[in-house]
Amino acid sequence: MNQSRTKNVWGKDIEPEYEQRLPRQRGDARGVGIRIEKLSKSFGDVPVLHDLDLDVPAGQFVAIVGKSGCGKSTLLRLLMGLDSPTAGRISFVGPDGTATDPNARIVFQEPRLLPWASVIDNVAVGLGQGVDRREAQRRAAAALGEVQLAEKAKEWPSRLSGGQRQRAALARSLVSQPAFLAMDEPLGALDALTRITMQSLVERVWQEQGFTALFVTHDVSEAVALADRVIVLDRGRIALDIAIDHPRPRQRGAADLAEIEGRLLRGIFN
Ligand SMILES: Nc1ncnc2c1ncn2[C@@H]1O[C@H](COP(=O)(O)OP(=O)(O)O)[C@@H](O)[C@H]1O
Ligand SMILES: [Mg+2]
Repeated sequence: MNQSRTKNVWGKDIEPEYEQRLPRQRGDARGVGIRIEKLSKSFGDVPVLHDLDLDVPAGQFVAIVGKSGCGKSTLLRLLMGLDSPTAGRISFVGPDGTATDPNARIVFQEPRLLPWASVIDNVAVGLGQGVDRREAQRRAAAALGEVQLAEKAKEWPSRLSGGQRQRAALARSLVSQPAFLAMDEPLGALDALTRITMQSLVERVWQEQGFTALFVTHDVSEAVALADRVIVLDRGRIALDIAIDHPRPRQRGAADLAEIEGRLLRGIFN
């Protein structure tokens, strides 16, 4: 990984996770296609991902589910360029069908906000360097509006609830208008009711912005509520790949969705 830390507009270090693939095509919020070919990853001689093949069309919302340790986070880290494959390749495909290097962002289960910076300054960190302060504040305020947190712009992160902190983290990843957004159990630490509200929020921003989404969750009903397609990973292999073309917003608990949940659970606990 890049050793020299990138500075943000105020000269502070940017967390390594956020310095990846900073925006190159400003204002281009179109999704990007993802092509994964024969992708394998081992740690030492322990294989974690085996020969994965996966094509994700631009703008698709893909959920990845599977038991703990099956390789979900490893796959996202490879896609983000935070780690490198042992074999195989990952490419991103632009609207003209040629390879591209997209603006890609990741959201984790922990919001990882800077405690000494206000909420709006935390969001502006997502813009990286080279954006003047007024413009950065304007764009950060817009991103906070997107996640319905505008009134907390000047607050310290410690004053926010868990759900609000995670909304701030989402705003930080959205402020640069990514073409690809990876989410690694982003709602996993939230209570059940906040989670449902946040699921709707994630669905709305995805519909508005059109990025390609890869959403890791251990909650099968969350996957079915949100995704166009759900992939079950089992010991580093794709065990199931199910399309869900039900209209949105989806009715939680609807019989046909419950049937898909059942299939997914059987795929996970086969
Ligand atoms: N940096 C690493 N070094 C060694 N082993 C790792 C590393 N990262 C992940 N692993 C191992 O790879 C497997 C998959 O991990 P991970 O992708 O985090 O699973 P998941 O996100 O599905 O729970 C686990 O067995 C984990 O211990
Ligand atoms: Mg994980």
